[in-house]
This record gives sequence, C-alpha cells and structure tokens, in this order.
Amino acid sequence: MNFLPWVSLFFSTLLATAVAATPSRTATRRGSSSFVGTSGQNFVVNGSTFKYIGTNAYWLPTLNTNDDIWNTLANISSLGIKVVRLWAFNDVDTIPVNGTWFQLVQNGTVSVNNGSNGLQKLDTVIQMAEQQGLYIILSLTNNWFPFNTTSTSIPANNSLTRNYLSNNYGGMDLYVRQFGLETHDQFYTNDSILTSFMNYTTQVVSRYVNSPSIFSYELANDARCNSTLPGSATCTTETITTWHATVAAHIRSIDPNHLVSSGVGGYMCTDCPKLYPLTPPPAPPAPSPAPGKKKRKATPVTNKQIIRERSERKRRNREAAKLAGTLVEDGVRIRGRWVSSATKRQQSETVGSLYDGSYGVDSQDISNIPDIGFSSFQLFPDQQSYGPDDPNIAPWQNTEQNGAQWITTQAQSAAAVGKPAALTGFGLVTQSNAPAFVPFNSTSAPFASDNREMLFEKTTPFEVLSILSANSSTTYGVTSQQQSDTYTTWLNTGIAAGLNGIIQYQWGQSNLTAEPGTSVTPSTTTGEVSTPGSPGQTPTPPEETGESPNDGYSTNGTDTVQQVLGSAVQGIAADS
Ligand SMILES: *[C@@H]1O[C@H](CO)[C@@H](O)[C@H](O)[C@H]1NC(C)=O
Ligand SMILES: *[C@@H]1O[C@H](CO)[C@@H](O)[C@H](O)[C@H]1NC(C)=O
Ligand SMILES: *[C@@H]1O[C@H](CO)[C@@H](O)[C@H](O)[C@H]1NC(C)=O
Ligand SMILES: *[C@@H]1O[C@H](CO)[C@@H](O)[C@H](O)[C@H]1NC(C)=O
Ligand SMILES: *[C@@H]1O[C@H](CO)[C@@H](O)[C@H](O)[C@H]1NC(C)=O
Ligand SMILES: *[C@@H]1O[C@H](CO)[C@@H](O)[C@H](O)[C@H]1NC(C)=O
Ligand SMILES: *[C@@H]1O[C@H](CO)[C@@H](O)[C@H](O)[C@H]1NC(C)=O
Ligand SMILES: *[C@@H]1O[C@H](CO)[C@@H](O)[C@H](O)[C@H]1NC(C)=O
Ligand SMILES: *[C@@H]1O[C@H](CO)[C@@H](O)[C@H](O)[C@H]1NC(C)=O
Ligand SMILES: *[C@@H]1O[C@H](CO)[C@@H](O)[C@H](O)[C@H]1NC(C)=O
Ligand SMILES: *[C@@H]1O[C@H](CO)[C@@H](O)[C@H](O)[C@H]1NC(C)=O
Ligand SMILES: *[C@@H]1O[C@H](CO)[C@@H](O)[C@H](O)[C@H]1NC(C)=O
Repeated sequence: MNFLPWVSLFFSTLLATAVAATPSRTATRRGSSSFVGTSGQNFVVNGSTFKYIGTNAYWLPTLNTNDDIWNTLANISSLGIKVVRLWAFNDVDTIPVNGTWFQLVQNGTVSVNNGSNGLQKLDTVIQMAEQQGLYIILSLTNNWFPFNTTSTSIPANNSLTRNYLSNNYGGMDLYVRQFGLETHDQFYTNDSILTSFMNYTTQVVSRYVNSPSIFSYELANDARCNSTLPGSATCTTETITTWHATVAAHIRSIDPNHLVSSGVGGYMCTDCPKLYPLTPPPAPPAPSPAPGKKKRKATPVTNKQIIRERSERKRRNREAAKLAGTLVEDGVRIRGRWVSSATKRQQSETVGSLYDGSYGVDSQDISNIPDIGFSSFQLFPDQQSYGPDDPNIAPWQNTEQNGAQWITTQAQSAAAVGKPAALTGFGLVTQSNAPAFVPFNSTSAPFASDNREMLFEKTTPFEVLSILSANSSTTYGVTSQQQSDTYTTWLNTGIAAGLNGIIQYQWGQSNLTAEPGTSVTPSTTTGEVSTPGSPGQTPTPPEETGESPNDGYSTNGTDTVQQVLGSAVQGIAADS
C-alpha cells in the first residue's frame, strides 16, 4: 500500500468513532442477479461483491461510427476498467445540421430523437458495453450549460463544436431558458419542466429495463442551486433533495431492475435539517467483526471532526517541515512569538462551503433517499477548493492531502447512511493539458496561449484564485509526475477507505473518425493561412481521424495515468 502515513491516521480515527451502521433500506431483492444491486455497503453482481475502477467518456454516444465506439470500449476494457460514466442527455433548442442530439427543448415543449443520430446511438453504446462486459452509468442532465443558446453551435471565443465540451450538451439552464423562466433552481421546482424531464427519463430508462450493462441511472451531473443562471433565494438543500427523491421514485417505478444514483459533487450540510434523517443505531452494539475482516461503520460527518482533522494534519505537516528545516510560519509575530492571525483563526474554526450547505446540496440527505442506491461524489481541485492551503507543503501536495481527506470524509458519510460509495469523477489539469482546460462554468480556455487576456475576465472567484495561486509562474497545472503521484494517493486512499467504485475523469481516445460539426472534427494542420486563389498554395486536406474531446482532463496512452489505473484495478480487486 502506497498511501501517506497521515491517511492511515484518518482511518483509525474513523474506526474509533464508529457506531453500528443503519441497515440499508435499498438492499436488492436479487442477490444472485446479473443486474447490479446492493447489499448493505456493497455492490453485488451475480451474488458476489463488486468493486471497480471506472472512467468517464461523456462523448461516447457522439462518436461518428460504431467502430469508434467499439474500439474505445475495447481499449477501456483492456485495462480492467469495468464501469464507464457518460452523458445520456444531449439537449438542443434547434435541430443541428450535424452530430448527435437526443432531445429538442424548444419554447416550452420537448420531443425526443429516437433516430440513428438520436437515442439509437446510446443503444449502440449499451449493446457494445454488454458485449465487452462493461457497465455504464447514464447521467440524465447537467447543472452546467454556460451557453446562451445551442443554435450558435460555435460558442464565443473558441472554435469548439457542440458536444466537444462536457458543458455543451444542454441541461438544466437550457430547459429554464426554453420554458421562459429565469432562475436555475426553477429546473427543480417548475411543474412543466419536471413533467418534461421525467418524460425524457421515461423514454431513456424504458429502453434499458432488461439490459444487464446499466450500472445506474444518474439523475444529474453536479446538481446545485446556482449555475450560469443564478439560483433564487428560495433554493435550499431541501429543494434539491426533494427533486432527487421525486425523480428517483419515478425511475424506479419504470425500471426496478437498476440502481439510481445522484451525481452530486458531495457537498454536505452537516447542520441542515434532514428530510431523510438517519435512523438511530440499534441499542446493543453489534458484535465486533471477525479478525482480519474490516467492517466499515461510521457516524455522520461533523464540523468538529473536520476542524480537528484539518488541524491534526497541519500539525503533522509542521512537524515534518521542522525536521526538514523548512518551516514556514503563517501567522503574525507578536513580542517575538508567532501567533496565528485572527483571519487564520477564523478560517480554522469554520468548515467553509464544502460542509455548510452553500451550494444547496446536502449529499448525506440525498444518499439516504430510499430510492437512491449509493452515495456518490466528485473531486475536481482545479475548480473547487477542498480545504485550506498549508504553507508548509507544496501547492500540489495541498491538493493531494485535501483531496484524500475529502475521500475519507465521503466514505464515512456513506457508511453512516449504510450504502456503497462511488467517486464518480476525479481529475487534475496537467501543464500539458492546461491550454485545453475549460472550467465547467465557462465557454473558453483561460490558459490557451491565444487567450491570455481572458485570465483577467474570469467568471468565478475560484478561477481567479487558482490563477493567483499559480505562483506567478506562467505555467498552469501540475506536472505529469505530480498528477500520477496524486492519482495514486487518491486511488489508494479510496480503496483503503472502502470506496466501492472510483471513476477517473476522463478517457482519451485517438484514431476516431472525424466529421465536421461533430465532437470529433478534422484537424486542419495548415501551417500558413492560405487565402483562396493565392498562387502556389494548396490547403492541406483535413485529417480523417481525430482525438476524443479534451476539456483539460483527457488522458491517453502517452501519460502514466493508464498504468496508475491498471494498478488500482489490481488493488481494488484484492480488497473485494
Ligand atoms: C454475471 O453473470 C453474467 C451471466 O452469467 C455474466 O455475463 C457476467 O459477466 C457476470 N458479471 C460479473 C461482474 O461477474
Ligand atoms: C487502443 O487499442 C489499439 C489496438 O489494440 C492500440 O493500438 C491503441 O494504442 C489503444 N489506445 C489506447 C488509447 O489505449
Ligand atoms: C412559444 O409558445 C407560445 C405559447 O405556447 C406561443 O404563443 C409562441 O408563439 C411560441 N413562440 C415561438 C417562437 O414559437
Ligand atoms: C413526452 O415525449 C413524447 C415523445 O417525444 C412527446 O411526444 C410528448 O409530447 C412528451 N410529453 C410531454 C408532456 O412533454
Ligand atoms: C420513434 O418514436 C416515434 C414516436 O414515439 C415512434 O412512432 C417510432 O416508431 C420510433 N422509432 C423508432 C425507430 O424507435
Ligand atoms: C444572452 O444573449 C442575449 C442576447 O445576445 C444577451 O442580451 C444576454 O445578456 C445573454 N445572457 C447571458 C446570461 O449571457
Ligand atoms: C471574446 O473575448 C474577447 C477578449 O476577452 C472579448 O473582448 C470579446 O468580447 C469576446 N467575444 C465574445 C463574442 O464574447
Ligand atoms: C457562473 O458564471 C456566471 C457568469 O458567467 C456567474 O454569474 C455565476 O455566479 C457563476 N456560477 C458559479 C456557481 O460559479
Ligand atoms: C448563488 O449565487 C448567489 C450570487 O449569485 C449567492 O449569493 C448565493 O449564495 C448562491 N447560492 C448558492 C446556494 O450557491
Ligand atoms: C495524447 O493526448 C495528447 C494531449 O491531448 C495529444 O497531444 C497526443 O497527440 C495524444 N496522443 C495519442 C497517441 O493519442
Ligand atoms: C484506426 O481505426 C481504424 C478503423 O476503426 C482501424 O481499422 C485501424 O486499425 C485503427 N488504427 C490503429 C493504429 O489503431
Ligand atoms: C456539417 O457537415 C457537412 C458535411 O460533412 C459539412 O460540410 C458542414 O460544414 C457541417 N456543418 C457544420 C455546422 O459544421
């Protein structure tokens, strides 16, 4: 096991505070079915515990040929990866000339495209996944759609086609605009939108009721109160929890064979009122597990615990720095002694937006909805801070440690609810990927070389922060080595904490068929811009093959990420 020593300290704390877990209310009724089910805190397939490493490929149903879909799934499968998460939505407000689309959402009405450039593409992915022994997580909508309209298929300030970026598949804000409404959270509360969205889910879900290769229907990617359209003041954690419960019940009524999951980022609200309170632990403590058999039990995450763990980690980092002679004080010097400043003290006494419901998400309450099969969360440190930065370790190590704490905290929260836990997406932007990186609330790449001026027109405070903290260096992102070290730590931390599934973001595939106006476009490798009719210059013919969309997280065989994932496949299998 190659995880940091402080990580194991977390587990001992976690186990020390353990109480009996509440029994799962969604335990599957088909213990030996080939459908994925759950039993307590485990996934079960064919009567056996199932743990997995997965990858994301939101663009899979947009590929131009069946061979491309087949080859991609074959490459993924060859690493031992078992689960692929992708977008099962592709909403437009005008029927596009080229490319895949699933649903037309226009002026308050919706219609589904079940043709060969519509849901039949998704059918192909599911059939081929089944043939290759892979499971698919179908995500049904997106919190993020920072485009005014899809009819401008080439968004402002970049030349990326529709479906290239993960946030250019429609989603909540497209519905809100096309239903003539104004706030993001009307997606969750407006009756007409709810009816239409459930109509869409009916059409998708009823196609796959009998398919063994559906891992789960994921209600939404990263649901929150806010997006590009602002949330209203009335949006609370209860708004979003209620929406999840309503849509999950609807899906289970059509398809009782498959799990439903949330797709939230994992934000908690430790002190919020719960719509689905945890049932109190049974009075007599459960007998201790047999030696060598670890039993994951935990209490709900508390603010006190988060603050204690953060200060413990800070103390360990300080000790290590002292030994190394590199100690950095981060407070102020008063009468010759370093004391922490008032702001620092306040920071260390509050848990911050990850745990206080700021996003309108209470992931524990959502996980505890009876129709939600497992707990899920995400980890994207380039777009979200996961804890205070410690001056005694390098920026990338802060990312690594805060990410590892996020993972253990999420494992504990899932255990308190008594359900399996999956990390449905994690990624770090490397220096070589930085020029391609487009934040999910944005339409342009801030670190693209032709876009440097965009740095100062950031849309979110966090983007500005991440630039400022980039150490005035001109290069954004971690090195490839730091990326693979961090991924190794996170994967090992997740496996040791008992995560049942860990899904990397995202797969990169080359040698795909390119077509103009689709997610894989022919690359025009002209060195010089040729003017039509200018003598002696013939434009280079466009390439016929291309690479899968890269939003800044794509990894292919040229980096070590695939090896790291391959090792994790062995690690998580050994843990099952
Ligand atoms: C479950 O059983 C089915 C039918 O025998 C088989 O095709 C599938 O690969 C099995 N799944 C797992 C994860 O073992
Ligand atoms: C996919 O498989 C092909 C054929 O085996 C191989 O040449 C290629 O390198 C693989 N690509 C990736 C990204 O793994
Ligand atoms: C949108 O729908 C409304 C009400 O159904 C209708 O009055 C209006 O003409 C429609 N607008 C367009 C552009 O189709
Ligand atoms: C439901 O979807 C079908 C198929 O696209 C469509 O004909 C119908 O109008 C939709 N109903 C609602 C209420 O959106
Ligand atoms: C597509 O949906 C329409 C309307 O629901 C239906 O009449 C048609 O048979 C469907 N076509 C296919 C290929 O499933
Ligand atoms: C959408 O586009 C319209 C017209 O160009 C513009 O007035 C409006 O501010 C835009 N809205 C957003 C949220 O960008
Ligand atoms: C594109 O970006 C430039 C520079 O940041 C800005 O001045 C311009 O208004 C943007 N264009 C559009 C169409 O948004
Ligand atoms: C997303 O961007 C818009 C402006 O483009 C901004 O108003 C909004 O606050 C941002 N939302 C989040 C959650 O970052
Ligand atoms: C939504 O954004 C507004 C500002 O645009 C902010 O005041 C509010 O706290 C945000 N709410 C949530 C739930 O993120
Ligand atoms: C791998 O991805 C990088 C970055 O996107 C790209 O430059 C390179 O061509 C890709 N290599 C292959 C073999 O796909
Ligand atoms: C590229 O894809 C084509 C079509 O699927 C296939 O025939 C060819 O063998 C592939 N080449 C490589 C190097 O994988
Ligand atoms: C659609 O495809 C055609 C044929 O491949 C191509 O000529 C055209 O440019 C594409 N349209 C767009 C908007 O990309």
